[in-house]
Amino acid sequence: MGTGSIRRGGGALEDIVSLVSNGELRQKITVASLREKKLQHQPITCLTAYDYASARLVDEADIDIVLVGDSLAMTMLGYPDTLSVTVDEMLHHTKAVRRGVKHALLVADMPYGSYHLGTDDAVRNAARFMKEAGVEAVKIEGGEKRADLIRRVIDAEIPVAGHIGLTPQSVNVMGGYKVQGKSLAAIEQLMRDALALDRAGVCFIVLEGMPREVASLITAEVAAPTIGIGAGPDCSGQVLVFHDILNLTFAPPAKFVRRYGDAAALIADAVHAFRDDVVAQQYPSDGESYHLPKETQQGLETVLERKRGMRR
Ligand code: KIV
Repeated sequence: MGTGSIRRGGGALEDIVSLVSNGELRQKITVASLREKKLQHQPITCLTAYDYASARLVDEADIDIVLVGDSLAMTMLGYPDTLSVTVDEMLHHTKAVRRGVKHALLVADMPYGSYHLGTDDAVRNAARFMKEAGVEAVKIEGGEKRADLIRRVIDAEIPVAGHIGLTPQSVNVMGGYKVQGKSLAAIEQLMRDALALDRAGVCFIVLEGMPREVASLITAEVAAPTIGIGAGPDCSGQVLVFHDILNLTFAPPAKFVRRYGDAAALIADAVHAFRDDVVAQQYPSDGESYHLPKETQQGLETVLERKRGMRR
């Protein structure tokens, strides 16, 4: 749609803005605004979120894309990898995130098995994410070999984000979580993957676990924005996992992770302090307790006094 086009209910497309807590107008991020950011060389920000609270915090911090990643299999559900998380589990979390996101583009991962059994199944599952959880795009792992399937999902009016390089759903085929694209043949395949996704019309491409030189070449070659994770600084934007940047993973971080806070220490301190207060009978205080109204208190004292008198 061109500039000046109108939406039903009035208002030009470029007017989709709302007031945020600091009083500034903030534009709703769309697949179109992501492309515009790439063209304008404005870095795109993306973080995962898996529940209402994290979604609100991420959205209110002005992050462009909120991704309900299938990494929630590990971060939220304690599975060893992403393979066993189901569509229903993903939907449960995505609905909660939807309630917390107002401005960012909301994207959810199609989990392993939700698009591997055939195109109709893929479209049906992708449509569930849109209809039941209100996502604005779904993310599907794989390059060239997924291009036709991705085209079919997009034909069903569901924007799709691609994901190539280290694709965690292929961990058993890759033989572990290994940096991809290290040989000339592997670089050539990654380039073919990226171009196939670009031609299929993806709204952005996640580039995971590849040398920065390769991510840089791909970014220059495709029209779609590239969002890197362990792919160096030359992508159109960067994504990290919420739990990684906050030290909530109970594991040493990967090389590319930068920790911006220590929520584990913060939470552990708070939980220990609560436990110590309860054990020492320091919590709750009188100020943290509810009290009877004066008249009820006087009435209660009279009743208790009478009872005590009867016992004497
Ligand atoms: O599942 C996930 O969190 C992802 C990332 C790209 C971070 O796919």
